[in-house]
Amino acid sequence: MMKNLNVKIIEVGPRDGLQNEKKILSTADRVTLVKKLAVAGLNQIEFGAYVSPKWVPQMYGTERMAKSLNKWTARPKKLSLSALVPNEYGMQEFLKNPSEKASLFTATSEKFSFKNTNCSIKESFERMIPIIKLATKNKIKLRAYISTVFGCPFEGQTSLARAVKLTDKFFKMGVHEVSIGDTIGVASPKQVRNFLDLCEKKRLPMNRIAMHFHDTRGTALANVVESLNWGIRSFDTSIGGLGGCPYAPGALGNLATEDLVYLLKRMGYKTSVNLKSLVRIHHWIQKKVAHPLNSHVGASGPWILT
Ligand code: HMG
Ligand code: MG
Repeated sequence: MMKNLNVKIIEVGPRDGLQNEKKILSTADRVTLVKKLAVAGLNQIEFGAYVSPKWVPQMYGTERMAKSLNKWTARPKKLSLSALVPNEYGMQEFLKNPSEKASLFTATSEKFSFKNTNCSIKESFERMIPIIKLATKNKIKLRAYISTVFGCPFEGQTSLARAVKLTDKFFKMGVHEVSIGDTIGVASPKQVRNFLDLCEKKRLPMNRIAMHFHDTRGTALANVVESLNWGIRSFDTSIGGLGGCPYAPGALGNLATEDLVYLLKRMGYKTSVNLKSLVRIHHWIQKKVAHPLNSHVGASGPWILT
């Protein structure tokens, strides 16, 4: 069988990246970032979060961003936007200026779930019921994140079997894509192999699983290569390797989009993204957040300028 060489990148920098920055960016700057990323060829972008601004002040004004992005006349046809939605209130806000996808989220660690959303894992699923009803009624696609799959800052080692169970549960609930979160960047390729082996044995749809690696300990690209070997073709990344989770102490940014695109190109995989543009955006957003970013290719240049 011919190997599928097309890889989908879900850019989460404007949400996962900026939610952890000390400097809170204006909604105008965040909209500009999303537009630059879309023009660079990223056609799946998580632009914000309908969460409480008391919990994550960096995501204030997500509804205004949605309004502005929906009015963008030069908006690329293929662009699909998503935003985090934690509860029914968030979904009602989302629907005032709807985007293509709403992102649900939970965790495999009870302690992390409480720290992040003030509820148990079970309660997080109860909160999803009205979100899913509203999404179905309004033809909004659903993505779902599972955090702490490979380890938790509060509970340590977490259960891969539990993560597989939750992934299966999400698919049965009608979620289109499940994103597997290495929230604090502790995973190794061995753990990724064990997780994906369990998924395959359970006959989960591998083409609807995305891997979400944070690069805290420099293992993200190794984990990508392991995932590619298992047939995974969707990865969440963040421009410049921005970010982390405000409720996961010690978490660094996601794998940098430009580092992933470089690796994929050098390995013969195809993406929709222009690497040279990404490096320019890296330098632009670096000035905005006012500190050096955690990305190799952004800092060194792409070598092969495409
Ligand atoms: P709570 O305090 O338990 O909620 O927070 P509440 O229902 O008691 O409401 C408290 C206040 O928040 C009320 O306002 C509500 O109206 C308001 P007040 O009466 O005090 O003025 N409120 C809201 N405001 C705006 N939008 C809403 C909303 N809901 C209630 N949707 C809640 C519960 C879930 C709201 C809170 O815990 C929260 O917002 N948590 C979000 C935390 C977060 O965004 N974390 C980062 C994202 S997850 C992540 O990064 C991991 C990921 O990247 C994957 C990985 O790497 O693993 C996805
Ligand atoms: Mg994350």
